[in-house]
Amino acid sequence: MKVTEIFNDMSYGPAPEANDSVKDWLANKGQGFGLFIDGQWQQSDNAKTFETKNPATGDVLGTITQATETDIDKAVAAAKSAQPEWQALGSHGRARYLYAIARVLQKRARQFAVLESMDNGKPIRESRDIDVPLLIRHFYHHAGWAQLLDSEFPEFEAVGVVGQIIPWNFPLLMAAWKIAPALAAGNCVVLKPAEYTSLTALMLAEVFEEVNLPKGVVNIVTGDGSVGESIVTHPDINKIAFTGSTNVGRMIREKTAGSGKKLTLELGGKSPFVVFADADLDSAVEGLVDAIWFNQGQVCCAGSRLLVQEGVADEFIEKVKRRLNNLRIGDPLDKNTDVGAIVDPVQRERIDALVNQSVEQGADLWQPDSQLPQDGCFYPPTLLCNVESSNVAANVEIFGPVLSVMTFRHQPEAIDLANNTRYGLAASVWSENINKALDVAPQLKAGVVWVNSTNQFDAACGFGGYKESGLGREGGKEGMYEYLKPKANSVTKNQPSNATQDPKTKLQPVAGIPGIDQTAKHYINGKQARADNGNTIKVLSSDGQTLGRVGEGNRKDIRNAVEAAHKAASWAKTDTHLRAQLLYYIAENLSYRRAEFCQRLVSFGTQSQSQAEAEFDTAIERLFTYSAWTDKYEGRVHQPPLKGVTLAMNEPLGILGIACPDESPLLAFVTMLAPAIAMGNRVVVVPSQKMPLLATDFYQIIETSDIPAGVINIVTGERDGLVKVLADHDQVDGVWYQGSAEGSQQVELASAANLKRTWVNYGKAHDWYANDVSQQLLREACEVKNIWIPYGD
Ligand code: NAI
Repeated sequence: MKVTEIFNDMSYGPAPEANDSVKDWLANKGQGFGLFIDGQWQQSDNAKTFETKNPATGDVLGTITQATETDIDKAVAAAKSAQPEWQALGSHGRARYLYAIARVLQKRARQFAVLESMDNGKPIRESRDIDVPLLIRHFYHHAGWAQLLDSEFPEFEAVGVVGQIIPWNFPLLMAAWKIAPALAAGNCVVLKPAEYTSLTALMLAEVFEEVNLPKGVVNIVTGDGSVGESIVTHPDINKIAFTGSTNVGRMIREKTAGSGKKLTLELGGKSPFVVFADADLDSAVEGLVDAIWFNQGQVCCAGSRLLVQEGVADEFIEKVKRRLNNLRIGDPLDKNTDVGAIVDPVQRERIDALVNQSVEQGADLWQPDSQLPQDGCFYPPTLLCNVESSNVAANVEIFGPVLSVMTFRHQPEAIDLANNTRYGLAASVWSENINKALDVAPQLKAGVVWVNSTNQFDAACGFGGYKESGLGREGGKEGMYEYLKPKANSVTKNQPSNATQDPKTKLQPVAGIPGIDQTAKHYINGKQARADNGNTIKVLSSDGQTLGRVGEGNRKDIRNAVEAAHKAASWAKTDTHLRAQLLYYIAENLSYRRAEFCQRLVSFGTQSQSQAEAEFDTAIERLFTYSAWTDKYEGRVHQPPLKGVTLAMNEPLGILGIACPDESPLLAFVTMLAPAIAMGNRVVVVPSQKMPLLATDFYQIIETSDIPAGVINIVTGERDGLVKVLADHDQVDGVWYQGSAEGSQQVELASAANLKRTWVNYGKAHDWYANDVSQQLLREACEVKNIWIPYGD
């Protein structure tokens, strides 16, 4: 070709990345990959295997083992026996291993990137410049958390054995997101990669061998969803960390309900990409390409819904089309490729079916002129324009290179449209007016918000969703908590023991106190409200005397209470100083009535006067503690090694259902109520079933403390029945339950429907005098939103 011809044409020539070393590596594996269990490569008993293919060519890359239940047993046993020693190695010992892993990964970076592109179909530019650097960064960053564990988490310890199930869209990166924090915290791991993309996780096992990671600390088992299920249900696994589809995530929530296993779920999304008329449109177009065509749109936080302001919509869409016509689609190993292959024909068919459905429902289809490669599993970048809110493309995660386009007129409409989804993983906001962007960001119900940027990730910044996008966070300090539990011997304080009890104190009801003729009502929307069914139930002392009556709450009462809480949404916006003041008022007003509340506690016949006083005094102290935290439980500012800073902001969950235990009835009530409202939540509380009168006595305290109507609602009655209604309710965002093992299971099970946040006790009585609960409930009362904003240059 002549130079003039090259200049006239200006097309890119092929620039393929060499893959010889990966081909050799694959060839050396000969008959196929075994399982990595207890530091050794093992063949499965049943020897069933399946092929893994390069989606860009259809070539078979290797043969993968389908692990059996016996294999999972072996892997879990290896992790369980390795865990005490791994933990005993201490912070610095574990930090050294994580650091060593990062170093080896750096040396083998190119090989990992090539294998990832061959197995998954993603362009080498992405695996080389994004996946692998972030993988390495994750191990370095968590080497740091391992080192700092003792000083930063002194009251916590490892959870134990962790089962981790990962998807195929970022096989290596997801493995790092799971393994690095688990190991840093002192856990051992059984990890299952996705069936389409097991190869890089198996190569990662070689790195663990290379650094002499103690046997059993990480075990890698391969296979399909049934292998994942065996991990989820294994009795010796203490925590499940899953990334994948919302449907499977929901099933995992159901299967683990009541088991006491900790759970994090990183699930799907339908994330909005909001472009205001005053945005830098050219930058926004580039951002959009990264948002939805990065990794062929197979990204949980992909900006798959474009919301563009009407005045600039036509101009913007024209720019997008022009840009799409220039995207290069093809060989993932070519360094010039922008859009690679879809992971598997099954996924391509799913994408195609959803696009066809969307068009049938009225969307306008647009695809660029560029030719797709003849062979391999490719799908063109696609625009679906004029998408209505009810269209499938506005609601269902397509998980492919398909953008749904909608327009809006003004800011409130943009926010409504953005939040009009059952998901809440991420959002991207584009405006040159930083005031506007930072006004919109807090109003978006999403775990991550990018301002004038998109798809930015870093190990220091938490990642995870609101609503049905999942539970918990990965990355950052909040991600570490997901792999830790409070130490068994956490400090207790003030607890009145029998030894200090005055032996002369008689544990019997105090006559005359309860006012039998009085029937306490519910407390809903700032007012006392009669039970819907008109029924009341007797409250008895331990020796069977009637102490009073309370309303028998039912489904309707709970619904009314939730509605009242819903209307009190502005509580979340009240400033922290005011919320702290109101909690102090509650403490102050309660303290005036010490004698009366102590008498009430004694009247149930299970506590002496001195025990009642200790409970009351601790309750006052607890209120002070939470008042103090209200304006001090702050977020963080991360400085990721990228342009800008990330604000990790604590946001209230929304409406919390709280079911109180019978033990320490006043202290438990206050301990659960105060952090919830301190963090800006509204609550519907079901007080102790046996001793509800303490909560009903509390009404006057609330009334005299200026708490706005609807922020605190109290419904008395049969705890498990009422909490079931709360757990089933779509408008309730979280449920805290302290009761029986069966009740805990019921709450976790019912919460799976819309993936509510739950905090339950599995029937184990909590020590309400212990201080450990204070910080934990502040964390449970919040979602962390990570907002990436431009800062500096
Ligand atoms: P999936 O959720 O079925 O697979 C993810 C992982 O879960 C894989 O390792 C799989 O083997 C495992 N798994 C499957 N069934 C399981 C079960 N019952 N118990 C335990 N583990 C199980 O996702 P799939 O079928 O590969 O993709 C379907 C759709 O899911 C995609 O089109 C996309 O919409 C969504 N998805 C979302 C991801 C995300 O990152 N949010 C990742 C992958 C898929």
